[in-house]
Parts: sequence; structure tokens; C-alpha cells
Amino acid sequence: MAPSAHYQILLAERPEGIPTRDTFHFDRVSTGSPESGEVLLKTLYLSVDPYMRGRMNEGKSYIPPFELHEPIAGGGIGEVVESRSSSLKEGDIVIGNLTWEEFSVVTADSVRKIDPSLAPVSTHLGILGMPGLTAYFGVNDICRPKQGETVVVSGAAGAVGSAAGQIAKIYGARVVGIAGTDEKVRYLKEELHFDEVIQYTTTEDMKAALEKACPDGVDAYFDNVGGSISEALYPLLNKYARIAQCGAISTYNSTGEDVGPRVQQYLVKASALMQGFIVGDFSDRFQEGSEKLAEWLEQGSITYRENIVEGIQQTPDAFIGLFKGENLGKQIVKL
Ligand SMILES: NC(=O)c1ccc[n+]([C@@H]2O[C@H](COP(=O)([O-])OP(=O)(O)OC[C@H]3O[C@@H](n4cnc5c(N)ncnc54)[C@H](OP(=O)(O)O)[C@@H]3O)[C@@H](O)[C@H]2O)c1
Repeated sequence: MAPSAHYQILLAERPEGIPTRDTFHFDRVSTGSPESGEVLLKTLYLSVDPYMRGRMNEGKSYIPPFELHEPIAGGGIGEVVESRSSSLKEGDIVIGNLTWEEFSVVTADSVRKIDPSLAPVSTHLGILGMPGLTAYFGVNDICRPKQGETVVVSGAAGAVGSAAGQIAKIYGARVVGIAGTDEKVRYLKEELHFDEVIQYTTTEDMKAALEKACPDGVDAYFDNVGGSISEALYPLLNKYARIAQCGAISTYNSTGEDVGPRVQQYLVKASALMQGFIVGDFSDRFQEGSEKLAEWLEQGSITYRENIVEGIQQTPDAFIGLFKGENLGKQIVKL
């Protein structure tokens, strides 16, 4: 039985720089009832993802901005508690773009049923979901590592980076990670068996550190962070190197014009290919990616971590923490 009222989180203001608690507003609203073709969901898990920072800004992007004073929405998992659709029944677990609230009414065809017996349902927001698929297609289709090549991954201990590095290792690459804390460095080396890891937060000369970690140069770069870390790497690119430009989190909170590295000379010198991508570009191959990730997970060829905090009240801090390096692995909120 759903309660008559519940909490939801609205975008209170468009943040300047890193969002703060003032960016978010908690509202207590009535719980709705489903109409024909709709279901009432109890939210079980919410995903907080760096791309959502872009949606807090005004302006054109590959996905429209969040509206001010409207609920924030993103990847989420819910349980059907009331159904007025023939395709979903009470107790079904579904994934979709859910608003940040404890209960929501959605159309049944806007969510996808998942099988909770295959893997913990939260993995559909991480290793078996959007971040895992991003890593798979970025490595498989853009980095295309060959046996013995050197692949560098920035943001290496996060949801996407930790998967990308492990996939590159499956393909026989020598993998060098870049991450921000001692704990992350230890995790990448000891648990994920990365060949080298650079802690950028304590490294004064990133170029020298990369040269030491990559004595044979860099054949592929899976870039999650952009900015000065990437700037230090470009001179090390080998002939025909590939760069999968997955994200640029170091710039997401920049105010004003971001002064970037001039990358062109390095691409020309190395005949290198740099390709930006979003995971949705590969939507017609999600089945392939999901099956591959599930197979590797079952074989133990890849593993994952989730950083789970509990309670809808924790959602803003969990989101803000992404930009402060507080998460190891996929950041998730359990409701
Ligand atoms: N192209 C796509 O379709 C797609 C899909 C999903 C994600 N992405 C992108 O992939 C990247 C990783 O996403 P994710 O979901 O896996 O997040 P995540 O890596 O799990 O979490 C963010 C991490 O980024 C690092 N970080 C934060 N601020 C930084 C800064 N200023 N400089 C360097 N590192 C910083 C932090 O780790 P440290 O402690 O190591 O700094 C933090 O833990 C993001 O850029 C995201 O936008 C792209």
C-alpha cells in the first residue's frame, strides 16, 4: 500500500560551478494513482551520473536541460505497486528514466522489466547498464586495443573507467589507470590488476608520470576527464593511436570559457583518431553489449563496485560527491 504523500526532489536553481544543497529542493507531494496503461512505481534505486550536471545548465545539448522547479530525472529502478497495464503486474521490477521521488506514476511502455534472479538489480544501473555499455562500446569500437598495446584510462576507478580498463585487459592490453585517491589506486592495482596506476592528485608532473608508466607510448586513451590530465597525455600518443572521448568531467563545473589544450598538432603527428561518443549512438547493439558484459561477469573476467547510500535525502550529496571524487565504482542511492 503506497503512502498518500512522499518526497520528490526539484531543481531549485541552475548551479554555477559545483552544485550545492541549494541546487535542490525537497517537496512533499501526493502519491498519484495510475490510469489505464500506467503503473505506480515504488522507487528502489536512483542512479546519480555526471552527465546530469550538463542538464542543469540551460542551452542545447544532446539531451534537453532539466526545467527549473521541476523534478530531476535519471536512471532508476522501481517496483510496480499498482498496475493498470496488461504488460506489468504488481511486484515486477523495472528500469527507466525515473523522477527523483519515492513513488511515481509512469506509462508501462516507458520502462523495461528486468529479471531480478540474474544479478542484483542495482547492477542494471552500473556494470550491466548504461556505464558498462559505455565502457564496452568505447573500448570495443573506438579504442580497439590489440594484444600488448598500452591503453590509458582516466577516471579509472569510476563506474565507466573501472569497466573500460578491465575490458581493455580482456583484449590483452597493458592498462594504465589514472585516479584521485590512495584507496582507488590500491583497488585498481590489487583488485582489478591494472598494470600501472597514477594518482593525479598527488602527482606534480603528469607528463613525466605518464612517460614512466607508458614506456612504449600510448596506443589508446579512454578519456573520462579531459582537461589538464589529457593535455599531459597527448604528446605520448603512438602512431595511429585511438582516443575514445567518453567524458570531460574536469570541465563540467567550469564557469566561463574553458581554455583547452590545443590537441590538433598531436593528432596530426601520431595520425591519431579522436572520437567523441555517447552510449546511445550504439543503441541498436545494446543486446550485444549486455550479453557480453553478463558473460564476462559470470566468468569472473570483470568485477565491479557500487557505492550505495541509503535514503532519498542522500541523493543531492551523492550527486555532488561525483565531482569531489567521493565514489569508488558506481554511485547509487537506495531508497
Ligand atoms: N559518453 C557517454 O555516453 C557517457 C556515459 C556515461 C558516462 N560518461 C562520462 O564518463 C565519465 C565517468 O562517468 P561515471 O558515471 O563513470 O562517473 P564516475 O567515474 O563513477 O564518477 C566520477 C569520478 O570522476 C572523477 N572526477 C571528478 N572530478 C574530477 C576532476 N575535476 N578531474 C578529474 N577527475 C575527476 C572522480 O574520481 P577521482 O577521485 O579519480 O578524481 C569521480 O569519482 C564522466 O565524464 C561521464 O560524463 C559518458
